Amino acid sequence: MEEKILIIDFGGQYNQLIARRVREKNVYSEIRPYTITISEIKKIKPKGIIFTGGPASIYQENAPSCDLEIFELGIPILGICYGMQFMAEALGGEVQRATKREYGQMEVELQNNIPLFKGLEVKNICLMSHTDYVSKLPVDFLKIAKTKTCEIAGFANLEKKFYGVQFHPEVNHTKNGEKIIENFVKNICGCKGLWKMDMFVKNKILELKEKIKDQKVLCALSGGVDSSVAASLLSSAVGSNLTCIFVDHGLLRKGEVEEVVKTFGNREDVNFIKVDAKDRFLEKLKDVTDPEKKRKIIGEEFIRVFESEAKKLGTVDYLVQGTIYPDVVESGIGKSSVIKSHHNVGGLPEHVDFKEIVEPLRDLFKDEVRQVGIELGLSFDLVNRQPFPGPGLAIRIIGEITEEKLTILKDADYIFREEIKKHNFDKDINQYFAVLTNIKSVGVMGDERTYDYMLALRAVTTDDFMTANFSKIPYDVLEIISKRIVNEVNHINRVVYDITSKPPATIEWE
Ligand code: XMP
Repeated sequence: MEEKILIIDFGGQYNQLIARRVREKNVYSEIRPYTITISEIKKIKPKGIIFTGGPASIYQENAPSCDLEIFELGIPILGICYGMQFMAEALGGEVQRATKREYGQMEVELQNNIPLFKGLEVKNICLMSHTDYVSKLPVDFLKIAKTKTCEIAGFANLEKKFYGVQFHPEVNHTKNGEKIIENFVKNICGCKGLWKMDMFVKNKILELKEKIKDQKVLCALSGGVDSSVAASLLSSAVGSNLTCIFVDHGLLRKGEVEEVVKTFGNREDVNFIKVDAKDRFLEKLKDVTDPEKKRKIIGEEFIRVFESEAKKLGTVDYLVQGTIYPDVVESGIGKSSVIKSHHNVGGLPEHVDFKEIVEPLRDLFKDEVRQVGIELGLSFDLVNRQPFPGPGLAIRIIGEITEEKLTILKDADYIFREEIKKHNFDKDINQYFAVLTNIKSVGVMGDERTYDYMLALRAVTTDDFMTANFSKIPYDVLEIISKRIVNEVNHINRVVYDITSKPPATIEWE
């Protein structure tokens, strides 16, 4: 039977990170809301439970709380931050509110002779982020960690295998935090670490084969990582019963259409349909300058093109969606999952006949999806592609979109990407691209006056794309990029670098 760690969500901002850290130890983890019932937990049969942090205070009205029978199940529990306070309160300890919030990296003194901190130094830097704190230990608990200002920064009932830490072991700001998670999952819960991607791929293919048999499956390929991996998985399972429709809206980056065609177009086991719809999209986008309008038009048009191609195929049994785990989790506590829409705007096609949706990646995080892609033999470049918005380059051309502007942007963006890779920054920078502004300015080239476009470069480092810092690309690299773009791309005579973080700016310009 599969080993599982159940993560009980009290609303903390790092919950997905906890699940990822556990999976990095090759143990499957699942996030569930704190409203989960005991019978559901028993059905999951977790080897261990982690209570997440959360913004609430344990004494506030309607403070999140789960069924206290959870402490009777004989399953090891690790409470983090609010999760620790919840455990303290539930088991007879006390929690108080400090006058000042403690936030930042602190030195924590750990009792490293207990299983949770095995292999760690006594002094360890940890991220603290709390106002409430445990002021009295629950019955039969001992103190296992402290800081200068927080006397009980960790506690444990070794016999019952209940642990609590006030700091956040799941974030990188806590040194050796992943070791703490590993200790809990492996030493305390006894997981062996059997969750591996090659097994996932084998099992998923078998499962899909069994389910789909010789029925027909349809997949919309966007050129992105998720839909490519989903399509590849399906093709391994059902072969030529899969049809992939790739709508080329003309708004992809330079080289991407060719890459998709190379990956799927030449395979004998996939029915691949490429629709050249660039003219249709550009016509619809003519004179449109409002970013939201652009998004809406592209989303709707995409669905229309997809529908009209799909109609030619008649009834299909399954429609593939590249939904991944963060989409499922972000759809909200206790709510059923929202189906990922094409380009996040258009929703599902209404006029395609299909019986059921199949989402083969819905249990996986992005990095796991990439590993599955590699297992299936997709190219490293495709699988490690940076995120790209559904509306494509349309929202990176400020103002009206024309064919000429598209060519300018594609060429400039390609040079930027090429240089970032060449200088080995592509691993550290999470998203980088060029934006064609609608500002023209005066320049001089040779002896000639020019009056041409200003291009902006954007590069950010981020964990979750909700917040981001602009990347500190060295000046000499920026200089090389700027020189190359102005020399090699017609109609750009000025390059600027965007030095705003998110917030207050967003990553995309539109
Ligand atoms: P922002 O600009 O909101 O972007 O800071 C955050 C992340 O989301 C991507 N993005 C989109 N992705 N459809 C998408 O599929 C969209 O309409 C869209 N808008 C932004 C953006 O590239 C970044 O990774």
